[in-house]
Amino acid sequence: KTRVLTGITTTGTPHLGNYVGAIRPAIAASRADDVESFFFLADYHALIKCDDPARIARSRLEIAATWLAAGLDPERVVFYRQSDIPEITELTWLLTCVTAKGLMNRAHAYKAATDANQAIGQDPDAGVTMGLFCYPVLMAADILMFNAHKVPVGRDQVQHIEMARDIGQRFNHLFGNGREFFVLPEAVIDEAVATLPGLDGRKMSKSYDNTIPLFEGGAKRLKEAILRIVTDSRAPGEPKEPEGTALFTLFQAFAEADESAAFAADLRAGLAWGEAKQRLFERIERDIAPLREKYDALMARPADIEDILQTGAAKARAVAIPLLAELRAAVGLRSFR
Ligand code: TYM
Repeated sequence: KTRVLTGITTTGTPHLGNYVGAIRPAIAASRADDVESFFFLADYHALIKCDDPARIARSRLEIAATWLAAGLDPERVVFYRQSDIPEITELTWLLTCVTAKGLMNRAHAYKAATDANQAIGQDPDAGVTMGLFCYPVLMAADILMFNAHKVPVGRDQVQHIEMARDIGQRFNHLFGNGREFFVLPEAVIDEAVATLPGLDGRKMSKSYDNTIPLFEGGAKRLKEAILRIVTDSRAPGEPKEPEGTALFTLFQAFAEADESAAFAADLRAGLAWGEAKQRLFERIERDIAPLREKYDALMARPADIEDILQTGAAKARAVAIPLLAELRAAVGLRSFR
């Protein structure tokens, strides 16, 4: 069976980018018969960016409820919280010891932090923790622990998956003795939505504060956010070029090709931006309103979500524990008996 795995960092409220980039394609993939799926809440990763325990707790619940509302079937999918699998942190150490520091120096998240410091004449490493620096090793452990073949993600995660391949390959080479302990994972990217734009046209991201929440705040908040999408100043009646605008790209992420073509034609014929926003809102709402109802019901029952996560953690550990035992033995952490 093909193993599909993906996770979301529990630092914020799930947004449309998480949904179209990761959640929707992952759930679609999980429905195939020859697929075994592992989806998780990346809460160890959350500690890298966030030192507010209440926010992490809230985000974990929101993200768990989002996955379930979006159609994740816990009978088919191994659905768990990263921090319930301590084997992942142990594997992180084994992998850290074979990971070249130079590889981590090239990681985008770390480079972005050092570049920003340099731009303002500060010590490049100011404010950079070892958690941020080693982030890709933890992510490699997430993926390699379950021998995932495919990892559905948005484009911003591709480099991390390539690094997981490099690290897995290095471990296989050093300790495998001809055996491949780790499958080398591949990123699965839907080109059409690989980088969903946010309100200001840049990548939709918690760190840019330009996100459109998926369920939180209800239809009202969705509408308000859509009204804030930046558009040019063309007046009603003036022709507008849809290609490349955030508004049209968001529409395409939800609509079929023929609906998008009709929308583009109307914009070129002078549809007002205000009306276009109303149409975008209605199109997204059509897809997500039924899911939001489930989301609201789930948010009111955290104990049920906890039960699901505990069952998932037991299934995940049944895979992780035996593999980790083999890896420990392979690197020389063996008993005397
Ligand atoms: P995170 O939490 O930043 O994002 C979760 C998923 O959403 C995708 N995404 C987007 N896709 C398209 N357009 C956007 N604007 C957009 N914004 C976010 C991300 O690409 C991602 O797929 N390190 C990861 C979490 C993680 C993980 C893993 C993922 C930890 N371990 C193992 C896969 C496998 C992260 O911070 O994603």
